[in-house]
This record gives sequence, C-alpha cells and structure tokens, in this order.
Amino acid sequence: MTGNIISVDGFSSTGKSTLASKLAEHYNFYYLNSGLMYRIISHFALNNDCIINNMIKESQLINQLDNLNFDWMIDNKGNKCLSFDGKIFGEEMYSFEISDIVSSVAKLESVRSFLFRQQKKLAVKKSIVVEGRDIGTVVFPDAKVKFFLSADLDIRTMRRNKQIEENNISFDSMKVEDNLIKRDKIDSERKIAPLKKAKNAFEIDTSKKSQIEVFDIAKNYIDSNFKF
Ligand code: C5P
Repeated sequence: MTGNIISVDGFSSTGKSTLASKLAEHYNFYYLNSGLMYRIISHFALNNDCIINNMIKESQLINQLDNLNFDWMIDNKGNKCLSFDGKIFGEEMYSFEISDIVSSVAKLESVRSFLFRQQKKLAVKKSIVVEGRDIGTVVFPDAKVKFFLSADLDIRTMRRNKQIEENNISFDSMKVEDNLIKRDKIDSERKIAPLKKAKNAFEIDTSKKSQIEVFDIAKNYIDSNFKF
C-alpha cells in the first residue's frame, strides 16, 4: 500500500520539520507534517464554534469534519504540499491561540482516529517522510527508518522564539517556554498514542548541533543501514 516511510518523532521545537523536509528533498520523498494537521483541525475548531472558553465540543467538531479531507496539492512555487478542504495553510497555524489549544485537541480519541485515517490515506503508494509524535509508534509502526529528536528546553525555547520572530507570528514571547512545557506534558501523558521513542528509533539530541550536522547524521545513518 505504501512505499518507503521515514518517521521523525520528538518533542516540540527539536528541529523535526527542518530535518524531515530536508530528508524528503534529498531522497525525493513526499513530506508530511502531522503536527500541522492537528493545528489545522484546532484552527477549524476555533473558527466553527467548537471551542468556547477553552472547552472543546468534541462531537460537534467531529460531525463538522465529516466529508472534509486532507489532500496533496501543488502550491504556487510548484511544491507538493498539504491541503485541507482544498486550502493551503501556513505560518498562521503557529499562532499563540492555536499553540495553546492544539495539544488538548490532539488528546481527543475521535480527532486522533480521524487524522490517523487521513495520514494513512496521504501515504498510499508514496514514499514519504512523516514527522510528528506517534508516527513511528502508532501511525506507521512498520516505517523503514525511524528517528526520534530531543533537545534541551532552553535551546528549544530559543529556536521557537526565532521562528516566531522570523515569520511575524502573533505570540507573546514570555509564553513560549510555558507553551512548550505544557504541550510536552499533555503529549507525553495522554492515554492514546502518547509521545514516546519507538524501540527501534535512532535518537538524535539536536541541542548542540546545526541543522546541517543533524541532517548529515541522519543521512549517514540511512545510507549505511537502509536501501530504498
Ligand atoms: O509538531 P507541532 O509542534 O506543530 O505539533 C503540534 C501539536 O500537535 C503537538 O504539540 C501535539 O499535541 C500534536 N501532535 C500529535 N501527534 C502528532 C503530531 C502532533 O499529537 N503526530
């Protein structure tokens, strides 16, 4: 059903997107950011009255998601990218409002099973690099190559601040570290598909490494152990 799968799981702001997209480009694979899918669903919930005063109306949300789908689309630069309900979403999905609620939305069983099905469908007959929290453990436990990224909290906070600044994202910088801590906790402690390292995942601590160094480590690991 699927081609080769590379999973890149790990904590928030450890460099998963950078590594996953670089690997996808290098091996000419599709690139799927599953965190973005949870953010898009959170955005949809906020805009469709499914979250009021931080309370998520789960059944209302799931009913409204019926018949809506994620799909592949070509953007105006000619790149393959993810769309939801025919639209492409960008940096606005990294706002404080969405970051603050996304882990609570991602805890819901109905949301996870909706996105599980969508992720499986997006990977049909494709070689793909997928980043997230539960990709190597739950969504694609048979992924050929698995990575798990970690990094010190202060480094992760610094990186997230830089991303926010560079992309003009609306975010109170005082709240960046708190948001990372909060999401790590909810993501690691939830009952369904918690964030954890798959037994056969190759771990990279990215704290003191540049993006190129992390990419080189991952690429050398793949090229010395796997054939596509
Ligand atoms: O990767 P990113 O930080 O954008 O993910 C946002 C949130 O989406 C995570 O904090 C987590 O709550 C949720 N998520 C998840 N499972 C995934 C990917 C993301 O629960 N596979």
